[in-house]
Order: sequence, then structure tokens, then C-alpha cells
Amino acid sequence: MTHDTSTSLSQPFGPDFQADPYAVFRQLREKGSVHQVALPDGSPVWLVTHEADVRSGLTDPRLSVDKKHSGTGFKGFALPPALDANLLNLDGGDHLRLRRLIARGFTPRHVDALRSHIARAVDTFVGRLVGRLEAGQQADLVAELARPLPLKIIGDLFAVPAQEQEQFSEWISGMLAPTSKEQLVQSIVNIHQYLVGLMATRRASPGDDILSGLIAARDEDDRLTEDELVSLAFLILGAGSENVQHQISNAVVTLLDHPLQLSELREDPELLPAAVEELLRYAHPNLSAIRRFATEPVDIGGIRIPAGDTVLLALGAAHRDPTRYPQPDQFDIHRVDKDHLALGHGLHYCLGAALARTQITLAIDALLRRVPGMQLASVPDGVRWTTTFRFRAPRELPVVLAPAASAGTV
Ligand code: HEM
Repeated sequence: MTHDTSTSLSQPFGPDFQADPYAVFRQLREKGSVHQVALPDGSPVWLVTHEADVRSGLTDPRLSVDKKHSGTGFKGFALPPALDANLLNLDGGDHLRLRRLIARGFTPRHVDALRSHIARAVDTFVGRLVGRLEAGQQADLVAELARPLPLKIIGDLFAVPAQEQEQFSEWISGMLAPTSKEQLVQSIVNIHQYLVGLMATRRASPGDDILSGLIAARDEDDRLTEDELVSLAFLILGAGSENVQHQISNAVVTLLDHPLQLSELREDPELLPAAVEELLRYAHPNLSAIRRFATEPVDIGGIRIPAGDTVLLALGAAHRDPTRYPQPDQFDIHRVDKDHLALGHGLHYCLGAALARTQITLAIDALLRRVPGMQLASVPDGVRWTTTFRFRAPRELPVVLAPAASAGTV
């Protein structure tokens, strides 16, 4: 397959997708599970939309994450080797070796130990938000809570100084949703340079953070290469901040859109864990970000995908598949089927799943308790979204305090 074929391919990620990605996914799903489409840059991919096929695709050994199996189609970000040698680009033994090295720091037991640290951070950010709202001001929930919280939590785990966390996050956003090709390239250069500098500083003065542990595993035991070390830091700092930010923002928009379920949650906080799982299904930010390469011809949904071609497993489509979830476009905290693919499935299952769930739960819990009168501010064009084929989340989330707590307020 070459790029030339893409001129005849449909391009689903245009203005209709920007307006309502779920409607576009529905149309595709109704026609079949697998579609050869062009990404906005013209490169061809196979988009998988049925839940059963996305689920089995995530554990299919013939679908590799390693770019060495890719042909001429979409490969993902063009990264230097020092950022590319990470878990999400490695299969088999190399993936297992790196995952074992890093997994220790992210087990549910470790995250449990971090719980009070996370709760304190949530308290600080929500406290500032409450201060602004009670002073009669409008506040941006993304800037006040959704963005700084995960950045602080993952940044602290790596002992990244607070003032550098924000800068790093801007480069990650510049990479994931660039406004120009130059911004994309420059963001990647900046991230790389920053991480090389961070390694040098931490080598000179190690601490008891996760990064210092990885550096010791490299320098003392030779258990990973220098590129793998920098790439791991890149993946975890990036994945650990952006995804949680977008999930918290999407969760808040969803809850404010469903006032009855919101008041149920406020009255019965025991419903919160189930509500978080439903938010991960319904308001998950990653639309079609998961990419794989066929190592041999693979049949999915009755379509033969040639070796070397790129496959995108569309979680955003799978989560709204009516053959799996009855009335999938309804948000329902009482939904019986709480299983979803929001954190992946199989060997690449999200390393930060427990950390993500804890942050989302504590953030929503604090908003329910401390800001019962919060509502979306009425802004001229409504909530402004960033929507790419990879993800969808609000750019900012202007909120105010309602004169009196009423339906539609957190
Ligand atoms: C709500 C927030 C999050 C969401 C929705 C999310 C989603 C995902 C998904 C779908 C995957 C699988 C990707 C694939 O199979 O190609 C994944 C993997 C991963 N996530 Fe998360 N994630 C979140 C939070 C985090 C956090 C807080 C961390 C920080 C440690 C993290 C680190 C990772 C890593 C390192 C992988 C790769 C694991 C591997 O390849 O073995 N994620 N995540």
C-alpha cells in the first residue's frame, strides 16, 4: 500500500468528526467493522470500529506495536531514537524487561500509599477553585484542576521541579495537538533536550524518586539502554499527565450535562467507583489513538489487512457499539456492564491505571463535596473542544457558582 492510494480513500476525520466524532463512528460501524481511511495528513490506515474486534485486536499477537513491522502507512510520531524506545513501541522480551523495571512504582499498593499525597494536591487545587468561585469570579476548571493535578502527581513521582512541569506539559500538548508542523517538530526537539538535561541533573544528584531508580538500573546494572531510559521518562511523564487531564475534564462536562445522576452521586458517594468506570467508557478522551502494525496478513471483520499496514483500534467507536453496550450513547452510572477498554487490554494495559482511577475519583469526590453549586459558565460558543483523530477534550472549561445550588450544578 502506498500513499498514492489515499487520494481515493475516505477521510472521516474532517469537520463532521470535529463536530461529533461519535456520529461519524456510528456511520462507519453500521457499514462494517473495518474501513481503510486516510488520516488528515493523507496517510492510509485501517480503522477498526466494532467493540469485539477492537478488544481482540488489543491482544492479537499478529498486531505489533513495533514500527519495524510497518510498511509505508502511518507510523505515529516521527521521534528520535531517544524518545521512541518506549513500552508503546516494543513487543515481546524488550517490552517485558522494561515493563518489569518500571511497574513496581505503579502497583495498586504503591498508589494506595500515594493516596493521601494525591488527596492533599486535590484539596489545594479545589480550594483555589472554590476561592475564585466564591469571590464571584469565573474560573477555568482545566487550568485550576484538570491540568495541574496529574502534572503535579506524575512530576512529583519523577521529582521534576514544579516550574518545569508546566513547560514540559506545554511541549507535550504542542506535540499531541500541534497548530503547525513547525510546532510539532519544535515540541519534540524541546522535549528531547529537556529530558537529556533532566537525566544529567539527576545523575549528578540522585534522590529516592522513580527516575533516580531507573538511572541506577541503567548505570549500575545495565538493565536498559540510555535511549530506553529517556524514552520511558518521556512516555510516563506524557501519558501520565495528558490522559488524566482530558479524562477529568470530559468527566466534569458529562456530569454537568446529567444533573439527575449528579445529585444521585452527591447523595450516595458509594456510587462513585461505578460512575468513574462509566465515565471511562462514555467520556473517554482517546478516540482512535491506539495503533498497531500487521506482521502478517490478518483478517478482521471479514477484511484482509495486508502485512505491514497500520491498524487503528478506535476505542471511541468501540465504547459506543450497541452490540456490546445497550443504548451506548446514554451515560448511565447504573450500567451493569462496567467493563471497558479505556485503559487498554492485554500486555500493554495502562501502567498508570490505578494512579489514573485514584486521581479521577478523588477529584470528582472533592468537587461533589466542596463545590455543590458549580455550573458551566454561559460562554458565547459553548465549550471549545480540541478534537483530533487521537483525542477529544475541552480546551478550557469556564465554570461559575450558581446563585443557589440547583439542577445542573456539581
Ligand atoms: C485516564 C487516564 C489514562 C488513560 C485513559 C490511559 C489510557 C491508556 C491506554 C488505552 C493504554 C494502552 C495503549 C495501547 O495498547 O496501545 C495505556 C498504556 C499506558 N499508559 Fe495509560 N492512561 C491513563 C493514565 C496513565 C497514567 C497516569 C500513566 C502514568 C504512569 C500512564 C502510563 C501508561 C503507560 C506507560 C502505558 C504503556 C504500557 C505498556 O505498553 O506496557 N497512563 N494507557
